[in-house]
Amino acid sequence: MLSAGLSYILYVLKARGLGAIHSPFVFEFAKKVFFSRERPPIVIEAARKSLENDRRLLVYEDYGAGSGGKNPGRTSKTVGQIAKTAARRPSTGALLWRIVKHFAPANVLELGTNLGISAAYIAAALPEGSRLTTVEGAQPLADIARGLLQTLNYDKKTRVVCQKFEDFLPARADLAFIDGHHTAAAMRDHYNRIDAPILVFDDVHWSKDAENGWKYIVSRPEATVTVDLFHFGIVFKNREQAKEHFVLRWRG
Ligand SMILES: C[S@@+](CC[C@H](N)C(=O)[O-])C[C@H]1O[C@@H](n2cnc3c(N)ncnc32)[C@H](O)[C@@H]1O
Repeated sequence: MLSAGLSYILYVLKARGLGAIHSPFVFEFAKKVFFSRERPPIVIEAARKSLENDRRLLVYEDYGAGSGGKNPGRTSKTVGQIAKTAARRPSTGALLWRIVKHFAPANVLELGTNLGISAAYIAAALPEGSRLTTVEGAQPLADIARGLLQTLNYDKKTRVVCQKFEDFLPARADLAFIDGHHTAAAMRDHYNRIDAPILVFDDVHWSKDAENGWKYIVSRPEATVTVDLFHFGIVFKNREQAKEHFVLRWRG
């Protein structure tokens, strides 16, 4: 793993504030989304707390390379252990909520449901009539996620699919959040098999390999606007402006 500290220092050195953004589209997006004080419903954090205290033991296939699964294979953990390690933290959950709220997409796709915490943030931001499809390979995790989304009353606008990403893809969406398998090969594959104008990749600096995956995505000609926020890498495809990569300051 690339030293997270070094990677973060390099990001901080490159990151710019609002004043350095000349693209009106990115300026508006950054102002309203990254620097907004708007907060998602507090019920989601209350639900996270109760998952963190849940001692049920789950035995499941850990598919991911990433913060949620460094050692793929058969594993057993309590719901509480999973909730404390795999899910997006409150600050990135709130950021995801603001991104979805800003673009009001009709169809959102998430790869990597886990216990459903990020799915809850996405669902909370969806306008009336919009839908989220979230994909998880491990059945016990998908079951807990369905329960969480039902408890929060988001079950009518969400669909939890228990399937391996490789079998589920290709797919179309208006916005995709990719938080499953943080390797360059998987990131390339997901980027190429998801037809979506906006893609949000989680943890693009998680490892040297994930950074290589992010570099590949940033280099794609149709990825006209790419934004590096350290925790998230955001891609806008085919925007009518000169291709540009932004490294923007965001502290969460
Ligand atoms: C980091 S966790 C997702 C966390 C979740 N998005 C959140 O913030 O609440 C990644 C999840 O992706 C799932 N996953 C990873 N690779 C997968 C694959 N190839 N097919 C299906 N599921 C996969 C793992 O089982 C894990 O639950």
